[in-house]
Amino acid sequence: MTRAMSEEVGRATFAGKIGFVMAASASAVGLGNLWRFPYLTSHYGGGIFVIVYIILALTFGFSLMIAEIALGRKTGKSCISAFGDLCAKYKWIGVIAALVPLLIVPYYCVIGGWVTKWFASSAVGELDTLAADGGAYWWNFITGAADGMTEPAVWFIVFLLLCVLCVVIGVDKGIEKLSKILMPLLLFMIIGIIVYEMVAIDGIWEGVNFYLNPDISQLSGGTFLGAISQIFYSMSLAMGIMITYGSYLKKDVNIEHSARNIGVVDTGVAILAGLMIIPVAFTMGFGDSKGMGLMFNALPQVFETMPGGEVVAPIFYLLVLFAALTSAVSLLETVVSVFVDLSAIRRRKSIVISTVIIVALGIVSVMGFGPWMIDIGAFSQGAGWLGIFDSLTNSVMMPIVAILTCVFIAYVVKITVITDEIKEEGASFRFEKPFVVMIKYVCPFLLTFMLVFGLLDMFGIFSLY
Ligand code: TRP
Repeated sequence: MTRAMSEEVGRATFAGKIGFVMAASASAVGLGNLWRFPYLTSHYGGGIFVIVYIILALTFGFSLMIAEIALGRKTGKSCISAFGDLCAKYKWIGVIAALVPLLIVPYYCVIGGWVTKWFASSAVGELDTLAADGGAYWWNFITGAADGMTEPAVWFIVFLLLCVLCVVIGVDKGIEKLSKILMPLLLFMIIGIIVYEMVAIDGIWEGVNFYLNPDISQLSGGTFLGAISQIFYSMSLAMGIMITYGSYLKKDVNIEHSARNIGVVDTGVAILAGLMIIPVAFTMGFGDSKGMGLMFNALPQVFETMPGGEVVAPIFYLLVLFAALTSAVSLLETVVSVFVDLSAIRRRKSIVISTVIIVALGIVSVMGFGPWMIDIGAFSQGAGWLGIFDSLTNSVMMPIVAILTCVFIAYVVKITVITDEIKEEGASFRFEKPFVVMIKYVCPFLLTFMLVFGLLDMFGIFSLY
């Protein structure tokens, strides 16, 4: 939650269901939906990944989101204190969860830097550069082959400064308001681009087939770990965020309905973003490049063929930039408040410390595409240090935090504490029974299984397929 909000009105500030769902969705919808989901879907063979993702979102994602929001509302505390409050011995679970955003923000800002660059270039009429060489520009840009390593580093810093500026001057509330207009606009634009592609791009239906028609032979241990990592990342789970959001929630708001709505918005945007990017990437021959650059190399090709594309492209990237900024600002807010909570330092000092760490880790990610390149198989995702940070947080730390959260709720504090919280003030809880089964048995057990085999698969030690 934003500082402005907590200072002005204290806890339990969401005006109602809609306010809560809007605020949580604004933080949930970001590069996870627009950049990471399409990338992973194409990497894991298209339709089969989408199916696995939807199934896991409905079961694991939904249950965990309910559990985290309820945990937050029950304790009225943010992540670290929420665990500590219910049982002092287990405060450390909250500490691990809180460390996740610290490792995510740096590379999030690197990608935010790419978006900023794509916006700036398309705005000054350089769309043809972005689309040059059949989409090779993105790779040349991040590896320094185009203009050296200074460029990606500078754009990373520009994006980070935008975030820091927002946090320092505390315009979070303004940003939230603005996002209520710009987010729906982004959605309309995505739909418009999809319609254009379906009508104007030759052979697009083969790509749609790849995206929506599952090919079971593509299934592997990695598919499951990839999908679950994406659910955590995209729905902002297993990192204390939803706990903090829940702590601001009034007792009369139905947690189950809210979780469902946030999940539907988040998954809906991801699937649409996939429909916008994957078929066209596939049709234009990027489909098998399996890279993180789909959003950056495939779309400029589309804009180039589009009448008025020079105008559409900068508007599109500006809206994406905005979606990335809202998410990055709330991530940074979290990091800043974690330092304040943990060591009782002043907020300003915490901002400085956070920024220094983010710059350091972000530069490692940037240089990881250039002179500091490192390749440790699927774990680095062909993206050097950025890939390693991404895998470490989403595929290792977050599953661990999720397992610990379930075990904590089910066996340390008793699940009735959470289910009673959800049914507070006579609220309905339609899926109570499946929820309890998920949290007590399915989540901890299957998540452990997924984590272990997914990692073995990623390091090439053992292949499930
Ligand atoms: N869910 C966001 C996205 O899809 C990214 C994100 C992860 C995030 N953790 C967060 C955003 C915490 C805000 C707060 O891009």
